[in-house]
Amino acid sequence: MKKNIKIGALVSGGGSNLQAIIDACESDKIDGEMVFVGTDNPIAGGLKRARQHNIPTFVVDYNEIINEFKNNPREFKAPDDFDPAEALSRQTFFHGRHDQQKINAFLITRAAAEFRLLRQMAAFPWDLLVLAGFMRKLSPYILDCIDKNPARPRIMNIHPALLPAFPGTDGYGDTLRYGCKVGGCTVHFVDYGEDSGPIIGQRAFAIEAHDTLESVKAKGLQFEWELYPACIQLYAEDRLKVKEETCPASGGKSFKRRVVKIKRVQGA
Ligand code: GRF
Repeated sequence: MKKNIKIGALVSGGGSNLQAIIDACESDKIDGEMVFVGTDNPIAGGLKRARQHNIPTFVVDYNEIINEFKNNPREFKAPDDFDPAEALSRQTFFHGRHDQQKINAFLITRAAAEFRLLRQMAAFPWDLLVLAGFMRKLSPYILDCIDKNPARPRIMNIHPALLPAFPGTDGYGDTLRYGCKVGGCTVHFVDYGEDSGPIIGQRAFAIEAHDTLESVKAKGLQFEWELYPACIQLYAEDRLKVKEETCPASGGKSFKRRVVKIKRVQGA
């Protein structure tokens, strides 16, 4: 049976979310097929999972690229279409005072790595890219190459916290350490910031006094494995649209927000 969308995935680790998505495609919970799995980490467990399902894989070794830059920054070749000033003006990872050289090194090495990702991905025509535990930020270079229609972004991520609380690499840990009574996970479209894009779906769960980091992670992952495939299926059904809205606020003021509208199904 022909599937509605072709999905590519990027992973860095064990890939349990990847597995949930592959399984949902195979059991028709997602009207889509996984067409590639890429990674920045040559020993990512997700690679094995992909191969077990005959899904093509590739590696773009970010560490190798970053070392190339460190060892010889003058000779380092950025992609021809990389514009450092443009990338700097669009990124929103770095706020306030930061070492300019570090930011430049970050943007140039990311662009070089992302150029290689794009080249690998081009071999497998795809509609939606899902980040499933991909531990590298995507920079404006790749986002501008992929996302041409602001109403229908093409990159999704899953984050282990109830965004906008606790962006970054350790969402469950940050939630627990803060003493939150509720934890959760979020699926969102990816934008220029860190875990800051428009939210598609969230699940929340109680954190009890006896919970540990391990038990919070275990609870959270159970929710992730349901939520991510469900959000991808909404995309496959073409029910997601990002809208920039101006909303009225008190005192005659207004605020803007980018919100994901989910189209209702007739009769549902
Ligand atoms: C998940 O908790 C996900 O939310 C986060 O990284 C973890 C990846 O786990 N982005 P896995 O590799 O899918 O098992």
